[in-house]
Amino acid sequence: MKKRYIAGMMAGVAVIAIFTICFTQGKKENIKDEKELITIGFSQVGAESDWRTANSISIKETFTPERGYDLIFEDARQDQSNQIMAIRSFIQQDVDYIIFSPVVEDGWDTVLEEAKRARIPVIVIDRMVNVKDDSLYTAWVGSDFYMQGEKACAALKAYVDAQEMEKVNIVHIQGTLGATAQIARTQALTEAASRYGWNIVAQESGDYTEAGAYEIMNRVLNEYDDIDYCENDNETFGALEAIKKKYSNGGGIKLISFDATEKGLRYTMNGNIMINMECNPMQGPEAEKIIKQLQDGKTPQKQAFVPEQIFVDGNVITDVCVDGKTYDVQPVTEELIEMRDY
Ligand code: AHR
Repeated sequence: MKKRYIAGMMAGVAVIAIFTICFTQGKKENIKDEKELITIGFSQVGAESDWRTANSISIKETFTPERGYDLIFEDARQDQSNQIMAIRSFIQQDVDYIIFSPVVEDGWDTVLEEAKRARIPVIVIDRMVNVKDDSLYTAWVGSDFYMQGEKACAALKAYVDAQEMEKVNIVHIQGTLGATAQIARTQALTEAASRYGWNIVAQESGDYTEAGAYEIMNRVLNEYDDIDYCENDNETFGALEAIKKKYSNGGGIKLISFDATEKGLRYTMNGNIMINMECNPMQGPEAEKIIKQLQDGKTPQKQAFVPEQIFVDGNVITDVCVDGKTYDVQPVTEELIEMRDY
């Protein structure tokens, strides 16, 4: 009896020991797997536009565990202090890389110095930062917003000349004040207006939202507005809604937009938008290229632009010329719209 009891006890201890070894090894395996993932802290501006949603999807689809990444995604709801808080928490968590799209250009020096002290490389995407020392970020990839504005204004000039318009009145709905996209698109319009004698009859920020632009357009719309220059598609949709409320036939107002989202392209094909300058949100793969270079011990290019095209209502504009260089304009087709997934 006693012998059987002792044997039973020993078997029990052996089972527990084997179970414990297997369990701890399994746990170690998991930890090892987790360690092999590259940890990325990403701070997004918000969800103000269709473009932004597409940009977030591009990041989330690029940095997945299956592809070797552990992504911590934070939405700042268009508030810089939330972005600063998110970056500080990434530093606390000792992530391998920080990526962020800054809501505005100024005010990043202190937090980026903290990231630098922690030796965490920072990759800036989409909009730019204005910092006194550019070693505070490793690389930037995004749009040439000034060129976007210049092309849009060159297309408008071609239209004004073709129509022999003597007076050009423009309602200008700006993006979030202080964001690179706003600063550069506004600068391009302001310069073109003074060069060609166009009148900017109203200028206000719609914060890149449909609701913001609707409210402005509803208020400022009057019979002298010829052109509406909106700094993104969602603002254009809001402005268009206000215009249609007042004039069922659109009142002859011509719209200039940025982004070229699926809905924006459809409006361009239908003639609701005259000029739509593409802004490319597919920046996840571009950020990943930079990380791969860093992982391989290489130095990535400090600043790089994503490729972008200009789409126009083909009945109105045929080419665009900036600084003596002619750029192709793309007429919008049904196939093109179908290929757009944002
Ligand atoms: O910074 C890119 C701009 O921000 C896009 O034009 C706009 O749609 C977005 O919200």
